[in-house]
Order: sequence, then structure tokens, then C-alpha cells
Amino acid sequence: MKMSFSYAAHGLVLLLTATLLAVSQADTIVVGGSEHWRFGFNYTDWALQHGPFYQNDTLVFKYDPPSDATPPHTVYLLPNLWSFMRCDFSRAQLLANTTQGSGDGFEFVLSNWRPLYFACGEDNGINCKEGMMKFFVVPLRRLQG
Ligand SMILES: *[C@@H]1O[C@H](CO)[C@@H](O)[C@H](O)[C@H]1NC(C)=O
Ligand SMILES: *[C@@H]1O[C@H](CO)[C@@H](O)[C@H](O)[C@H]1NC(C)=O
Ligand SMILES: *[C@@H]1O[C@H](CO)[C@@H](O)[C@H](O)[C@H]1NC(C)=O
Repeated sequence: MKMSFSYAAHGLVLLLTATLLAVSQADTIVVGGSEHWRFGFNYTDWALQHGPFYQNDTLVFKYDPPSDATPPHTVYLLPNLWSFMRCDFSRAQLLANTTQGSGDGFEFVLSNWRPLYFACGEDNGINCKEGMMKFFVVPLRRLQG
């Protein structure tokens, strides 16, 4: 009896420790999950379902390099909500070019508190406007254990 009680107590301590670690750890999230980064998937909806995201979490954008079968994709950061709503790339910053999403994908660490507006800049904004390849996140501060 004594033995099993001590095992149970030990298990509880491990569980609590694991929980505290989980609270202060950063997550790595594949954008779009198994859909990866593609035309026609609703990333605004995806971000709503999978948020909130936290400061120091890593977003991973995965997409194949362009080929006969695959149109080109990129990742841009748009400067504000207005450019995001209009898919206006005139002041956008290229984060990942057409080949950087291959393999393990392109990783972006959410190191800022400010809202981050992501979009695909290919096909004259069509991927963003009609392909729904855009979403924004407002990274939250993670509570420290
Ligand atoms: C994408 O998802 C959002 C959030 O669920 C929704 O408001 C929006 O209408 C959807 N867009 C399209 C084009 O279906
Ligand atoms: C994010 O990571 C940086 C560098 O590792 C660290 O200094 C900072 O405290 C972290 N911020 C949060 C909110 O975890
Ligand atoms: C994309 O960026 C990588 C890393 O900077 C570079 O090696 C590669 O040539 C670029 N690809 C294209 C298509 O510009």
C-alpha cells in the first residue's frame, strides 16, 4: 500500500511539472495543418479555430516549389489591416519566396505583440483575394508558470 501511494504521488508530481512546462513552452504550428499553404483553403477560419497564438510560437508554412503541377506560392507580411483587407501588396514584405516552403517548410517565430498580417503574394493578389490565402494573428503573451 505504502509503495503504491508513493508511486501515485510521484506520478502526480510528474504530471504537475509537465503541465507547468507546457504552459511556458512555445508551440510549433503548421499553417493550415495537413492542408499546408494552398489556394482555396480558408486560412481566416483556420486561424480562428487554431488560435490563440502566443508570443514565441513558431508558424510553419509548407508549400511545394513551383512545377507543372504546382503554381507558385509565397509568404508576405502586409503592413496593416487596410492592406490586408484589400490584398494590397504595394508595401508588403517578402518573408518566404517560392522555394522556401519546401522540405520542412518556412518557419516564422511570433516574436512581436503586434498584429501580423500574412498573405500569399502570387498571381497578382488573386491567391490572397480569391484563394483565401491570408490570415492575421495577434500573438498573446504566454502566462509564465
Ligand atoms: C472564411 O472563414 C471566415 C471565418 O469562419 C468566414 O467569416 C468567411 O466568410 C470565410 N470566407 C469564405 C470566402 O468562405
Ligand atoms: C521569447 O523568447 C525570447 C528569446 O528566447 C525570450 O527572451 C523571451 O522572454 C520570450 N518571451 C516570451 C513571452 O516567452
Ligand atoms: C529563395 O530564397 C533562398 C534563400 O534566400 C534562395 O537561396 C533561393 O535562390 C530563392 N529562390 C528564388 C526562386 O528566388
